[in-house]
Amino acid sequence: MNVPNHVAIIMDGNGRWAEKRGLPRSAGHLEGSKTLEKLAIHAIDMGVHILSVYAFSTDNFKRDASEVNYLMDLVVKYFNTKFEKINKKGVKVVVSGRKTNLREDVIEAIKNIEEKTKNNTAGILNICLNYGGQEEIIDGAIRLAKDIQNGLDVSNFKREDFYHYMYHELPPIDLLIRTGGELRVSNFMLYEMSYSEFYFTNTYFPDFDKSEFNKALFMYENRDRRFGGIHDKKGN
Ligand code: IPE
Ligand code: IPE
Ligand code: MG
Repeated sequence: MNVPNHVAIIMDGNGRWAEKRGLPRSAGHLEGSKTLEKLAIHAIDMGVHILSVYAFSTDNFKRDASEVNYLMDLVVKYFNTKFEKINKKGVKVVVSGRKTNLREDVIEAIKNIEEKTKNNTAGILNICLNYGGQEEIIDGAIRLAKDIQNGLDVSNFKREDFYHYMYHELPPIDLLIRTGGELRVSNFMLYEMSYSEFYFTNTYFPDFDKSEFNKALFMYENRDRRFGGIHDKKGN
């Protein structure tokens, strides 16, 4: 099976999952966090090396403070306790996004989980929190500008070289999944998705279980990735 090296998920539809059941939106976020825990382990079992997930965008601060706080509480709780299974599995957790605007306890929890899992080698779970794709490019461009000021020669600078200036220097995304039915990327990993295959599903994220994930993998296997070239008949 041709398994994507880097899968990214826009975990959307938690709120609607809850509303459909007459529950508060927070119930959807709680259920979504359980789904994520299971999926992270499953993805590694399927041979995926890197799983990036969109947990909270820079624009999600536009929501009511109560919802934002609930999500941040959930992050702290999960990072401090529930990620033990993921750690045992040998997964390294990294967090992408701006630290500005984040609560102190959230920043502390991020430090703890990154420190605790930093030597793990079975796979990488990249959690995008207070993350924006344009922001990542801007932050990278600023760091590059500083290096240029300090004498970096960019006469041969290539698009591959710019990954060094992304938050965690992760490779390009092979498969991008969005749950919840919307057909947009909502400022997710813009630089890394330049040649990603897209998979959109109406399934709300809390219901996006292992078999739903496998459907996306099967679909990926049959995609013909050409990267601007021409398909050769051997399928290479
Ligand atoms: C995605 O679910 C999780 C976050 C954005 C934090 P939503 O909360 O956007 O759920 P819907 O789209 O309102 O259903
Ligand atoms: C994208 O979902 C962000 C996350 C999944 C964390 P949104 O629900 O915020 O996106 P829009 O508002 O529908 O574009
Ligand atoms: Mg949404």
